[in-house]
Amino acid sequence: MISKVKSQYDLIAEDWDKFSGENGSIHQKNDIDPVVFKMLGDVKGKTLLEIGCGNGYLGRLLSQKGAIVTSTDISSKLIKLAQKKSLSVKQRIVFLTQDAQKMTDLKDHSFDFVLANMCVMDIPNIEAVFSEVKRVLKMRVYSFFHLTIPLFIILVNPGYIIGVAAGSILLE
Ligand SMILES: C[S@@+](CC[C@H](N)C(=O)[O-])C[C@H]1O[C@@H](n2cnc3c(N)ncnc32)[C@H](O)[C@@H]1O
Repeated sequence: MISKVKSQYDLIAEDWDKFSGENGSIHQKNDIDPVVFKMLGDVKGKTLLEIGCGNGYLGRLLSQKGAIVTSTDISSKLIKLAQKKSLSVKQRIVFLTQDAQKMTDLKDHSFDFVLANMCVMDIPNIEAVFSEVKRVLKMRVYSFFHLTIPLFIILVNPGYIIGVAAGSILLE
């Protein structure tokens, strides 16, 4: 199942990169990012892990706000495209191809925040993801998972209204 997810995202990597663009699609800019930024607050100097980063636009924006960002994704193609798009901030962002169910390259208790936008719906073993998130988080901080996906932007004409479900989960 997971290798199928990986190969499918590898297959659509260039299209997803075009969809997200440099700084996120209209949906991401208008509906998702303001909520994420509000929830995260001041990220200056904070270590932040993004799971399922896609083309990495959000990590770039957060890096520009002063966060120390690690961007991960299961698709090595998307990670390559994210790196290419992030040349100006590349030295400040660590990019890794990692399955969120087993993030072998990440150390225990090394992040202030973990962010996962529109990606947990693709992951079969969600318990494994939460266990890994708990492992890599520092104490007394929260993770933020966001579940909506703009499928109808791709499938339906513009003129849509999207609802945003956002929440924070205290892992302790
Ligand atoms: C719908 S895209 C969203 C990308 C990005 N978060 C955004 O908001 O633009 C879902 C992403 O999750 C990644 N993904 C799926 N399963 C994953 C897993 N097990 N571990 C890490 N990333 C995964 C995909 O490769 C894809 O980049």
